[in-house]
Amino acid sequence: MASLTVRQLDDTLKKLLRLRAARHGRSMEDEVRVILREAAAETDHGAADRFAPSAAPKHKTATPSEDGPRILLIIGGGIAAYKSLDLIRRLQERGARLRCILTPAAQHFVTPLAVGALTGERAFIDLFDPQSEFDVGHIRLARDADLIVVAPATADLLAKMAGGHADDLATAVLLATDQPILIAPAMNPRMWAAKATARNLAQLTADGVRVVGPNAGEMAEPGEAGLGRMAEPLEIAAAAESILRRGAALAGKRIIVTSGPTHEPIDPVRYIANRSSGKQGHAIAAAAAAAGADVVVVSGPVNLPDPPGVDVVKVETARQMFDAVEAALPADAAVFAAAVADWRSESESASKIKKQPERTPTLKLTENPDILSSVAHRTSGRPRLVVGFAAETDDVIANARAKRMKKGCDWIVANDVSAESGVMGGDMNTVHLVTASGVESWPPQAKDQVARRLIECIAATLDGTKR
Ligand code: CTP
Repeated sequence: MASLTVRQLDDTLKKLLRLRAARHGRSMEDEVRVILREAAAETDHGAADRFAPSAAPKHKTATPSEDGPRILLIIGGGIAAYKSLDLIRRLQERGARLRCILTPAAQHFVTPLAVGALTGERAFIDLFDPQSEFDVGHIRLARDADLIVVAPATADLLAKMAGGHADDLATAVLLATDQPILIAPAMNPRMWAAKATARNLAQLTADGVRVVGPNAGEMAEPGEAGLGRMAEPLEIAAAAESILRRGAALAGKRIIVTSGPTHEPIDPVRYIANRSSGKQGHAIAAAAAAAGADVVVVSGPVNLPDPPGVDVVKVETARQMFDAVEAALPADAAVFAAAVADWRSESESASKIKKQPERTPTLKLTENPDILSSVAHRTSGRPRLVVGFAAETDDVIANARAKRMKKGCDWIVANDVSAESGVMGGDMNTVHLVTASGVESWPPQAKDQVARRLIECIAATLDGTKR
């Protein structure tokens, strides 16, 4: 397939694409991939109204994940350094664990205290600080990162990098690393246009350094405008994410996960619910994101933080969950971990039902749509792998086998949810993976571990190396 170069687009289209990519937290290249994938799916099953993934509300938390990638952020000395504080947050939202180095010039713009408060770890500033060298050392700083991001990358820092200087902590680390480096240049347009800068940049790209930006726009200096503004934090975070995803087990794959209970209203104050905490579904979403997938979790009401690096669509009822899952398609795999209420009240009273002497109301129930079954039975646009859960209290495996056939899904993760198992609301789970080829019984383990193992199986299957 011919490759597509974003530079060949006209400026207006490029601007629209950049805005759309930033809104979705993706690099422009990834955004083009999503658009193409959606367009291909349109032709496949004609769901034109699903073209805009932005329709789904997105909430991301700034919680670094224990499994998240380690990013070393080097903040250079330019006015754009203030945006690097926001960049720390945007990278944390994607589950990254951050360490920061401030160059001496950067400390004129942002303080090590502010950076340390955001990262939860002191900022590193001095190559000759005995304490830092004793604690971590510049060589470990260089090696203990999956990616080094330099933002803002000033003209001076670019020159030092291109020349292999190592006279301060930032440049020493940059010279000592063999990890990928992403730079976000920021400087006055004349400095950006200077022949020396072009030479340095050419040298750095030839050395394998990746570049995001700069953008065109107004400069900090009054009356100055042109190419040289640092890329927006969302653009830098998306570029970082795209570099980190390359090579990850689920890179380039889209996964939908349902999680938590649903609440089915009876009147404005009462509802039908169940005991699901959402812990297992949220753990699966987090594990999929950590494995590099583009993840949407459609969640019923839960008391849990949003999983890092995941698009969260919050719903209340089974019907809303159904609509949100349909809107999130197409996907490579879908995991239905939600405890969807099977029934809802046939009528929802607009006002609170009042207690009346000797007249106990009768609740008439009607069935909710079966989301798993509906997605699994799609004739077009079905995810390659559809995974259901079976919450059972008796005959766990036999019921799960029957459920797999009835629902039309590929796998069922069966678990015993009887009161004595402690699964509902607890942190542990004992599951059996029921597939067409048999049953794998996993030992009791934390829900996070179940999630990671399930994601490994999903990655191997999508990859064609398993089952
Ligand atoms: N599920 C769904 N939509 C529903 C009901 C269930 O998507 N309306 C999904 C669940 O997310 C789970 C699977 O179907 O992945 C099985 O859910 P479970 O409650 O165990 O099964 P039910 O179909 O409700 O059958 P039963 O309650 O009779 O065991």
